[in-house]
Amino acid sequence: MSQWDQMSERWSNEWGSPLRPSQEDVAMFKNQLREGDQTLLLGVTQELQHLANLAIDNNPKAIEIFQTGAVLGDWKDLPFESKFDALIGDGCLTVFQGSPELFFEQAKKALKPNGRLILRVFISPEHKENLNSVLEEKKGFHAFKWKVAQALANPYVAVKMVREVIRPVWDHPTLDVYQNSDLVYYFPKLSELPPWDHIQFGSSYELAERCPVVTWKFN
Ligand SMILES: C[S@@+](CC[C@H](N)C(=O)[O-])C[C@H]1O[C@@H](n2cnc3c(N)ncnc32)[C@H](O)[C@@H]1O
Repeated sequence: MSQWDQMSERWSNEWGSPLRPSQEDVAMFKNQLREGDQTLLLGVTQELQHLANLAIDNNPKAIEIFQTGAVLGDWKDLPFESKFDALIGDGCLTVFQGSPELFFEQAKKALKPNGRLILRVFISPEHKENLNSVLEEKKGFHAFKWKVAQALANPYVAVKMVREVIRPVWDHPTLDVYQNSDLVYYFPKLSELPPWDHIQFGSSYELAERCPVVTWKFN
């Protein structure tokens, strides 16, 4: 079973924030949307589905368990042109297996003129942290995992490698979904993102300061 197949089965009860968006994050997405917006959700993030008219995900299993309209498709080649007022998504830049330039190009294609792309983005600190120090600071497991991944990222890191580094110090049961993963994650610094129009930082969970909701407007 692929990483996303396993995660779609276990997602809601085993993973909390920062991996999942909090209610505060959802409110930050909401305040970037306008009444009547046609909104596309990138991925089938349960917490955001009530904000969207349609979702698009490349995992058939995830689509099956999603309640609102969802279509099978890849963000690498969005099957829409000038169709939406807003695109929203949670952690998409990190999990997208292509260049960030392609991701933004496709988002722009699917948006109407003056459309908005609104994403919660997992960002690395501006100054790289020392891996050994990070491995010694254990609080919440998922925040710890993200910190380790970011200390390893350059700005890309293989998911398998994150598991290998963490397992000897914290063999958490959710690590098994990464065992056969061939995914590579992307953790840009804030200064590496294309210039944005709006940014909101929450504070409702450990590491919220590295998970802002960022809005880009495209003409
Ligand atoms: C939104 S992302 C990241 C996880 C996020 N934190 C969440 O709450 O769902 C997870 C979803 O994105 C989907 N996905 C990942 N890459 C994709 C791509 N290139 N095209 C379409 N869907 C993709 C996966 O199948 C998965 O259902």
